[in-house]
Amino acid sequence: MIAPMVGLSHVAFRELVREYTPPTMNPLRFTEMLSTRRLLSERLDDSNELMVAPGEDFFVPQLLGNEERFISASVKKLQTLKPWGFDINMGCPQTHILKHNWGVRLMGDQGYAADVVKMVKRHTNLPVSVKLRGGADKDVNLDYLRDFTGCLEDAGLDWLTIHPRPKAAKHEGLANWSVVEDIARVRRIPVVANGDIQTADDAIHVVQQLGCSGAMIARAAAARPWILWQIGVKLGIEQPIFEGKKVPETPEEEATEYYRAVLRFIDILIHFFGDTEYSLQKARFFIATGSRWFLFGHSFWRISMKAKSLEDMKTAIRIYSETHSNKMYGRIDL
Ligand SMILES: Cc1cc2nc3c(=O)[nH]c(=O)nc-3n(C[C@H](O)[C@H](O)[C@H](O)COP(=O)(O)O)c2cc1C
Repeated sequence: MIAPMVGLSHVAFRELVREYTPPTMNPLRFTEMLSTRRLLSERLDDSNELMVAPGEDFFVPQLLGNEERFISASVKKLQTLKPWGFDINMGCPQTHILKHNWGVRLMGDQGYAADVVKMVKRHTNLPVSVKLRGGADKDVNLDYLRDFTGCLEDAGLDWLTIHPRPKAAKHEGLANWSVVEDIARVRRIPVVANGDIQTADDAIHVVQQLGCSGAMIARAAAARPWILWQIGVKLGIEQPIFEGKKVPETPEEEATEYYRAVLRFIDILIHFFGDTEYSLQKARFFIATGSRWFLFGHSFWRISMKAKSLEDMKTAIRIYSETHSNKMYGRIDL
């Protein structure tokens, strides 16, 4: 699965990942978190964040909220886009989200969190999941997490994703996958691991060795959007993606593919959002996130920041790629 990420998980990113994915794999691709309050007044055809590709399926809108009147209206509206299911955000640690008792704040009140699950379930027959953290504060509290996820399961939740970094760790440091392993053992519903899954081997490890039901990849998908292709090949799914091309494997092959992917991403952005300031910002953010896995990531990131238009950016990337052979790291310190 490809994670919800504000500023990244828009239609252009989901399409880039889809282009690199073996057609039979159908990974779930999440939207960024969508405020159920704001959705009420938003027009589906007038919002970049709500745009979906023609015929796009296997996408999952992520809901942010805790009030039934907003949740019901949002679910009804989003259902017209034909999503695969819905996810509820119970992991976001940002202050302005906590003020409204949304995001990870919901982890502090089991009963209320279970009610929010029931609210969403009342308004859709599609699968409903929750994405939550290992802990609502500084540390992971396994006993609490077992109780909390049990409450959500009893409320009718269909599956859940755990990002085991506690709230205080934000997105930094190692994610302790054994927390997800523990919860996956005690829950009847599928439990998906997220956090620090950077390579195809990491994703396969959490499923095959730790018994998780799936792996959700976040930032690493902005570095190697072909990661599902790599996973597919390792699992024996041999489907041609681009004619005559083999999956990038070595650090050099991945770096060469990275240049190609960024150029392709810019074209997809222009296709959906036009050659606009919005697209330029999204291209910069994609490069800022993914180029950390690039050996000369900082200088590459600088040229993207300097470009004043997407055409300038493409020219600069082409020149850079012709003059700099590069490598990609497998794992980095997040
Ligand atoms: C820029 C950015 C935006 C994010 N936005 C969301 C979001 O909208 N909803 C959510 O549940 N998590 C969000 N996250 C958290 C990611 O989904 C994921 O849990 C986190 O990055 C850990 O995974 P990783 O270590 O593979 O990056 C965001 C993370 C980043 C870096």
